[in-house]
Amino acid sequence: MTIPSSVLSRWSRFAASTPRPFGTGLINKTYLVEAGGERAVFQRLHPVFAASVNEDIDAVTRHLERKGLLTPRLLLTDDGASSVDDPETGRPWRALSYVEGESVDRLDTPPIDGTARAHAAAALVARFHTALEDLDWQYRHVRVGVHDTDKHLFALDDALERHGAHRLWQDASALGAQILEVGATLPSLAALPLRHCHGDLKISNVLFERGTSRGLCLVDLDTLGRMILPFELGDALRSWCNPRGEDVDDADVDVAIFAAAVEGYAAGGGRPSAAEASALVDGLFTICVELSARFCADALDESYFGWDERRFPGRGEHNLLRARGQWALAQAAARRRSELDTVVRRAFG
Ligand SMILES: Nc1ncnc2c1ncn2[C@@H]1O[C@H](COP(=O)(O)OP(=O)(O)O)[C@@H](O)[C@H]1O
Ligand SMILES: [Mg+2]
Repeated sequence: MTIPSSVLSRWSRFAASTPRPFGTGLINKTYLVEAGGERAVFQRLHPVFAASVNEDIDAVTRHLERKGLLTPRLLLTDDGASSVDDPETGRPWRALSYVEGESVDRLDTPPIDGTARAHAAAALVARFHTALEDLDWQYRHVRVGVHDTDKHLFALDDALERHGAHRLWQDASALGAQILEVGATLPSLAALPLRHCHGDLKISNVLFERGTSRGLCLVDLDTLGRMILPFELGDALRSWCNPRGEDVDDADVDVAIFAAAVEGYAAGGGRPSAAEASALVDGLFTICVELSARFCADALDESYFGWDERRFPGRGEHNLLRARGQWALAQAAARRRSELDTVVRRAFG
């Protein structure tokens, strides 16, 4: 696959260039394109994203740039369009300015220490949040119910009801019962303010200066939107503080990385309100419970697209392992609650 020439030629300065597959992202199809000393990242959007997301990216990145932050910018076509539909699949293609740097799939990728990267990445996220505080923008592309925890718990309950004959039902229902029991006792975070958020702060979406831990900018902006801070940071923390990844069942919260990230957020000027700060660990815990519910339901529905055919007999098995991993992480967060809360109080107290 490559970029169709009828698409590429809409950005005429790149029409004669040869696109190279780029990055390790699993969601969009990403290419690097170069012409006349200018580099651009072309992406064909995954079906979960509509073309309107580019209007959001344009508005947010303009604002970031006005505030002096480094950021990819949306490159419009010669005639001012923000994306071009693929002639075969109909999916939108867009172009972004390339930012020189490197991203990593694991926080602890040598030679740089995981805590140094966590500190720098969180400081960058804080600058990003602060710069967007005064942005007046109604998002065009809204992911409805993305962290509607009750909805995800209900879907798990429903999947357990529907799939009594599934080969994994016994295991999934034992785990599912625990998730649903704890899910019913989650604190309500609904009163917290919605802020402009990135929405998917996994470490591969942070661009670092090559060979150092200096954070340059955030990429992968398809999930921009308003969200409560404990969900934005809780989601980042649950992936950063679990360097062993999603495909193991005995996960733990790495307190040193958690502390580095929380301190980095404060060092970058992040100033959560007292209510947001005290809900930070609740956010982390809630996201872990929510994800374990989603993976557990997916195990029975066999629905998730990102499974590894070499390691697992089916989607169900892979998803059940992921559900166990996020559940172990939730339990670790609960076990370490007072330790984590102390870190948060020290940073923002
Ligand atoms: N504008 C950009 N400048 C430099 N690198 C980029 C840019 N956009 C994306 N990348 C690189 O490409 C990778 C994949 O892009 P991303 O937007 O994260 O796609 P996906 O949604 O598939 O994860 C990123 O992890 C990053 O390394
Ligand atoms: Mg990405």
